[in-house]
Amino acid sequence: MSPLDATLSSGGAVCGLAEDMPFPSYLGEKATETLRVAEQQVWRALRHIERSTAEPCPGVAVATADALRWLAAVPEDSISGCVTDPPYGLIEYEEKNHAKMKQGRGGVWRIPPSFDGSERSPVPRFTVLTEQDRKRLSQFFSKFAKLALRAMVPGGHLLIASNPLLSTTTFACFEKVGFEKRGEVIRLVQTLRGGDRPKGAEGEFSDVTVMPRACWEPWGLFRKPISEKTVSANLRRWGTGGLRRVSGQEPFRDVIESAPTRAAEREISPHPSLKPQRFMRQVVRAVLPLGIGVVYDPFTGGGSTLAAAARLSYKAIGTEMDEDYAIVACRAIPLLRMLHGDGSI
Ligand SMILES: C[S@@+](CC[C@H](N)C(=O)[O-])C[C@H]1O[C@@H](n2cnc3c(N)ncnc32)[C@H](O)[C@@H]1O
Repeated sequence: MSPLDATLSSGGAVCGLAEDMPFPSYLGEKATETLRVAEQQVWRALRHIERSTAEPCPGVAVATADALRWLAAVPEDSISGCVTDPPYGLIEYEEKNHAKMKQGRGGVWRIPPSFDGSERSPVPRFTVLTEQDRKRLSQFFSKFAKLALRAMVPGGHLLIASNPLLSTTTFACFEKVGFEKRGEVIRLVQTLRGGDRPKGAEGEFSDVTVMPRACWEPWGLFRKPISEKTVSANLRRWGTGGLRRVSGQEPFRDVIESAPTRAAEREISPHPSLKPQRFMRQVVRAVLPLGIGVVYDPFTGGGSTLAAAARLSYKAIGTEMDEDYAIVACRAIPLLRMLHGDGSI
């Protein structure tokens, strides 16, 4: 049994994955070895782009860097999969809004009322974005998409979190630069967005909800076009082109039920937008169809993508521009990786 299979079968039941199918024996030893050598070369090159790169656990690295600057230095055709949750509104991580969130006071961050004696985490409020903000958002995503297209290997998948208000704007940027849209993964989750009565007139309009309570999160699924004639030929050449099945009997599906991030995870990684391990392990696993290659998370935040990759024994690297969060992620990754799907250690 390969180390990958061992990791998955020991964590399989708890992280919602079925027993794994045999590791790519169908590819042949020589072809597998060639892909592994390429993986090692890419891994070495990526770790040396930024001097501040730390390795919180073997095979997983975090660079304190701006994603766009870092991507521009990545060798062409090197990243096999990208899973990320970007700053949707951009402005929420700008100095002034971020400071307001840290102080617990407004800006683009909405502080949900506490109930049952428990405080709830701030959530970014995207309805306040101006036309100008949306334009900046488009420009940012277009730049990011262009750089990502160059850096990814042909057939590599990119999965990017969004929300129902902004997904049309952001997803269009990826198609415009040449990614193929391959669908959306819908994370079914109870959020705290929407569902409120008109502000200041809650009693007068007690039967009115201004916007629906959001119960899902769209993740755009894109692929860099394959370079070979068929997906199978692309898989042999690059190790990419398809998505990894859940098991021999079960394909990867595009609707995934997901609980909000558990308290145990938020305690380990106190980032306001931390995604749950249970969900992240499923999607990160899917982007490397053969389990070979390097996964990239441009907007690492609290490290949930990288921790999921570590759990799967995938090579992964992330960039995070905020030094404090990069430190949070480095501390959290080895611990998040150890968690069972139910949040217990
Ligand atoms: C939505 S959060 C990611 C949360 C992450 N998925 C998690 O589970 O913890 C986005 C992160 O991107 C970072 N960020 C914003 N702009 C960036 C840029 N240009 N380069 C790198 N990181 C950036 C922010 O500091 C923030 O931590």
